[in-house]
Amino acid sequence: MNARITPAPAKTDLDAFWMPFTANRQFKDHPRMLARAEGMHYWTPEGREVLDGVAGLWCVNAGHGRREITEAVTKQIGAMDFAPSFQMGHPIAFQLASRLAAIAPPSMDRVFFTNSGSESVDTALKIAIAYHRARGQGQRTRLIGREKGYHGVGFGGMSVGGMVNNRKFFASAMLPSVDHLSHTLDIGHNAFSRGLPHWGMHLANDLERLIALHDASTIAAVIVEPIGGSAGVLLPPVGYLKRLREICDKHDILLIFDEVITGFGRTGKPFAALTFEVTPDIMTTAKGLTNGAIPMGAVFAQRKIYDAFMQGPENAIELFHGYTYSAHPVACAAALATLDIYEREGLLTRAATLSHEWEETLHSIRGAPHVVDIRNYGLIGAVDLEPRVGKPGARAFEVFLKCFEKGVLIRVTGDTVALSPPLIIESKQISRLIGTLAEAIRETA
Ligand SMILES: Cc1ncc(COP(=O)(O)O)c(C=O)c1O
Repeated sequence: MNARITPAPAKTDLDAFWMPFTANRQFKDHPRMLARAEGMHYWTPEGREVLDGVAGLWCVNAGHGRREITEAVTKQIGAMDFAPSFQMGHPIAFQLASRLAAIAPPSMDRVFFTNSGSESVDTALKIAIAYHRARGQGQRTRLIGREKGYHGVGFGGMSVGGMVNNRKFFASAMLPSVDHLSHTLDIGHNAFSRGLPHWGMHLANDLERLIALHDASTIAAVIVEPIGGSAGVLLPPVGYLKRLREICDKHDILLIFDEVITGFGRTGKPFAALTFEVTPDIMTTAKGLTNGAIPMGAVFAQRKIYDAFMQGPENAIELFHGYTYSAHPVACAAALATLDIYEREGLLTRAATLSHEWEETLHSIRGAPHVVDIRNYGLIGAVDLEPRVGKPGARAFEVFLKCFEKGVLIRVTGDTVALSPPLIIESKQISRLIGTLAEAIRETA
C-alpha cells in the first residue's frame, strides 16, 4: 500500500504553492498532507489512515478511488483528449446532458456545462439577466443573495454571497445592483433542532421588503443555497423555500438554487429541490457531478428559459457565454461513470436511509463542553462551539487539528464544525467519525 503513496515534500519545498483559503504560514510550519485515498479513507504520506468526514470538500459522494471513474477517464483521454464545444460538439456531452436532465427537477432539462461551482454561479446569474433582456425586460438586472450565503469566488458569486471575509477585501469591486436577504440561522429559536427548524418561515418575507425597496421590475433573480454549507450549515426553516418560490412567482423574479453542495444525493434525493419539493428556475451544481475526480460544473435551466433565447436568426449565437473547457470530454466521461455508480449503488437516496442514525449519533454530542448548537439534515451535520473570547475560530480549529491527529478529517468554518461524509459511509464509520469529534471537543479547553 505504501508503495503507491507520494512522499511528503521537504519543508523547504512548500514556499511556491500559494494555498487557497488556507492559513499559509501556519500550514507551512505544520503541514498536513494527504497522499492517497480509497473508499472512506485518506492516507498521509507516512501511511497514516484518515477517515474522510467531509467527502474531500463536499464532493466525493461515492467515496474515493472509484475504479469505474478512473477507467472511464483513462479510456476517454486515450480516445479524444479535448474537443471544443464552441460551434462543435462531441457525443458524450449530449449523452451526459440527457442523463442529467433525466434526474433533474421537473422540466429543468437544459444543461450548460462549466468547470466549477463558481463558474456555475456566474453562469446562472448571467443567464438570469440575459433571459429578462431576451423577453424585453432588460431593466431587470438586480440580483438578490443572502447574508452568510456562499456562491463561490467569481465577481458575481462574491457579490451575491454574504460571508464578510470573502467580501471586505474586494468591497470596491462588487457588482453594483445587489442586495441581500437576512439569513436563516437563529440559535436563539432553533438550537439543537433536528432536521429542518420549525421556526423562521417568515424570514422569507424579507424578500417582499427588498421588492418594496427596489421595485420588482428591477430584479432579475434571487439566489440561495437550499442548505448553506460554507458559512457553517444553514438550514431552511420548514416552508421557507416554498414561500420564496411564491414571492418570486408573484413578481416574475427568477429563483436560483445553488446546489453545489446539496446536489447529487446529499439531502436524500438527487437534488435538494426534489427533497424540499420546490422547483427553481435555474440550478447550479458542480462537486458531486464527477465525484470530485475531474473539475466540472453544470447549470440546469427550465426549458422556458432556454426557449426564450432561441429566437432571432438561426445562425446567430444565442448566448455569448462559455468556457474553453465547457463539456470537456474527460470531465463528461468522469461524470457519466459517476452517475452509473450513483444509480447502481442507490447513492442518490442513501442519505435518506442513513439520516435517522446520522441525526441520533450527531446529537449525542449535546452536553459536551462549549457545544452551543447541533444541526443536521440528510448526511449533513454541524456542531457550533462557543467562540473563545477575542479569538473567533480558534477553538474549532484546535478541534480540527486534534481530529486530524486522531485520524479523522472534519471541516471548520469559524467556530462551526461541518460534516458531510461520502454517501457510502457505514454505521461503524458514523460512530467513529462522531465519536472522535466528541472526544476532540472534550479534550479542547
Ligand atoms: C453553494 C456553493 N456554491 C459555489 C461554490 C463554489 O464552488 P467552487 O469552489 O467549485 O468554485 C461552493 C463551494 O463550496 C458552494 O458550496
